[in-house]
Amino acid sequence: MKRMIGIIGGSGLYDIDGLQDARWLTLDTPWGPPSDAIFTGTLGGVPLAFLPRHGRGHVHTPSTVPYRANIAALKMLGVTDVVSISACGSFREEMAPGDFVLVDQFIDRTFAREKSFFSTGCVAHVSMAHPTCPALGAEVAEAARGAGATVHPHGTYLAMEGPQFSSVAESRMYRSWGCDVIGMTNMPEAKLAREAELCYASLAMVTDYDSWHEGHDTVDITEILATLQGNSARAKETIANLPARLGAEHAPCPHGCDTALDHAIMTAPEA
Ligand code: ADE
Repeated sequence: MKRMIGIIGGSGLYDIDGLQDARWLTLDTPWGPPSDAIFTGTLGGVPLAFLPRHGRGHVHTPSTVPYRANIAALKMLGVTDVVSISACGSFREEMAPGDFVLVDQFIDRTFAREKSFFSTGCVAHVSMAHPTCPALGAEVAEAARGAGATVHPHGTYLAMEGPQFSSVAESRMYRSWGCDVIGMTNMPEAKLAREAELCYASLAMVTDYDSWHEGHDTVDITEILATLQGNSARAKETIANLPARLGAEHAPCPHGCDTALDHAIMTAPEA
């Protein structure tokens, strides 16, 4: 199968450089329009689609991002591999602002979002034991290292509803749960990517120490934006490095991301 890379860019990443035959495509899906038009083209010989998660101009809050439409639109375009790029707070001293974390586990504490394509008429229960694709993730981590980033190869991400940041008590509790980073957008994105049988990897850029840290116990959006600004060249270079690492062919996923529905659907075919 031909590979198509899908990039979902977070705060501070609203377009990408060097795309050939580039155009912004306006799409609609059975779940409504995605966050914005999708920037499509070819990068290093591999088709690529870029979607700004919050829309250009940052118009969608973490709760109002149309997650189902976003994943559906990428699937409709033929995307095989989704790379999520987002900002996060850190619960670990050693995961410092400016570092990248390859997220591979989640605790989903969001509560005001549509989380499944299977909400009416057809019931499916996909496995989320391993919510990201390790094969895609390994290449994303190497692409980021090639861009000069410090990359932590594993991380558990607490997905919170927001839009307010956490209290000190919440931040301490998430730390005690073993979480490494916190953000507001990777869920339900990862769940929906699995239901859509897409490989999904999440590269989270640390922007702050959330609220637990004695030296930095308030999160400030100015600080977050400054860190993102400093990291945007590295994020763009990471994306530029991906096509050469991934190649133009998408072999069957060794981890079964692309067959996730094979044993997940409960509804009888004739129902
Ligand atoms: N995004 C960036 N920093 C964050 C934090 N501390 N909490 C939630 N989302 C974030």
